[in-house]
Amino acid sequence: MTNHLLLEQLDALIAEETNPIANMANTAALLYHSLPALNWAGFYLYVENTDELVLGPFQGNVACVRIKAGQGVCGSALAAAKTIRVADVTAFPGHIACDAASRAEIVIPLKKGTRIIGVLDIDSPQKERFSQADTVLLEKIARLLTRRSNWSEGLYISA
Ligand code: SME
Repeated sequence: MTNHLLLEQLDALIAEETNPIANMANTAALLYHSLPALNWAGFYLYVENTDELVLGPFQGNVACVRIKAGQGVCGSALAAAKTIRVADVTAFPGHIACDAASRAEIVIPLKKGTRIIGVLDIDSPQKERFSQADTVLLEKIARLLTRRSNWSEGLYISA
């Protein structure tokens, strides 16, 4: 599937729905089944009280539930408020290996104004799997999802 088609499909999937859990769940499924060579695609949501991420909707193997801000690739992307693309996770200090098969990873923060709601995390068993074009595509996807969803609806995360 081309990037353009993928974006169109996501747009159609979440156009009529504002619930963030439903939209994250469908986004994870669409990405996991459309992008080649992935072993995990999903979300971690930010918990303000404890300054950490908690596991959200995803596709792939069971994963670590909580990640402190600044820890691993996800917590680093959260703390830096920017996308982190890792060509080889074995060379990333502090990488959290939920699935030993993962070799490359990309993490995109979900931004709503100045706040970060969570991150989109994608893993691949292939080294150097993610390109600059993937960064552009996934940042567009994160923006679309963030804009469409009503983040006060259906999220009851306190700690
Ligand atoms: N590898 C991530 C942890 C989450 S899993 O990949 C699903 C990290 O280092 O933050």
